[in-house]
Amino acid sequence: MTDNIAEVAKKLKSQLAVLKDKRAILRSPELRDLYSKIKDIPADQKRAYGQAVNALKQELETIIETHEAQAASDSVKVLDVTAPFDTNAKSWPQLLTADLGSKHPLMSELEKISDIFYRMGFTVAESRQLDDDYHMFTSLNFPEGHPARDDYDTFMTVETDKHGKKFIAPAHTSTMQNRLLKKYKSNLAAGKPIAVLVPDRVFRNEDLDARHEHTFYQFEGIYVDKGANAGHLMATLKTFLQEYFQQELEVKTQPFYFPFTEPSFEFALSCPFCKKQGCSICSYTGWIELLGCGMIHPNVLKMAGIDPTVYTGFAWGSGVERLVMVKNDIEDVRYFESGKLDFLRQFK
Ligand code: DAH
Repeated sequence: MTDNIAEVAKKLKSQLAVLKDKRAILRSPELRDLYSKIKDIPADQKRAYGQAVNALKQELETIIETHEAQAASDSVKVLDVTAPFDTNAKSWPQLLTADLGSKHPLMSELEKISDIFYRMGFTVAESRQLDDDYHMFTSLNFPEGHPARDDYDTFMTVETDKHGKKFIAPAHTSTMQNRLLKKYKSNLAAGKPIAVLVPDRVFRNEDLDARHEHTFYQFEGIYVDKGANAGHLMATLKTFLQEYFQQELEVKTQPFYFPFTEPSFEFALSCPFCKKQGCSICSYTGWIELLGCGMIHPNVLKMAGIDPTVYTGFAWGSGVERLVMVKNDIEDVRYFESGKLDFLRQFK
């Protein structure tokens, strides 16, 4: 009798391995037969026989349950392997509740920056994450082969456009100058200035360290009007910085070179940490270099169809991370793109 049970057990287990609906095995004729034979078993063996059949059924159930638990946990992983589980939760895995999320510090700061310029009369426009050679270089007065193109080493696609040129991950927000000058030049005819702010993400082929990232944010300012001059540029930037840092700051400019501005300047801020005494944040110079700026080159205005003998303009491009680092005493730029929750939660 027990030989028969062992035989049936072997058969059912091998069926179980391939069956889709594994629970069907508990309703199989073979198992039912084993139970129905109880009545024919001699009285002195009934108890042992019954126990053996029950044990087999129990064994099959355990195999099925183990399989079901495995399938359930597999399907959770298939649904979303990136779900933010709280590994310290009492019952695991437990999803983090939605209210634990927070806005990324760069986004909240970009909103504050945009808001300040909006109050100064600037319209806000977005850039793009993939651009072309014309907007990255030519429209900004870097002709083909211009050596300054090398200062903007970034990433390119393998695919080319219809002119055989690769698409470019923009290395600065200045790529939007030509488009926005064209878009808003009707303002000038109506006697109003062009005033646009472009906060967005940019890319560079950088060696990474505490001050350099391959992906970062800039905000570009573009202003054109009759009579706009470098004094207006300095006043605009100084007003912005004092509003952003909420303190009187000393600024200094030094001559620089960009193909798309003439004259060009670099703008530095007195170090708010050491009050110009020199510290690790300002590399012991007392000054923090913040941005590039200048008077828009006549060729850039011409390429957008604006007459540089009538109108003049100024522009700047500033890194966002550096401002946020200075404001919040953050020592490493790589934290921003790291996805480190310990870092991000400090800005809730
Ligand atoms: N695009 C420059 C850079 O990323 C910064 C810059 C300089 C922007 C001068 C401007 C400008 O609009 O006028 O290095």
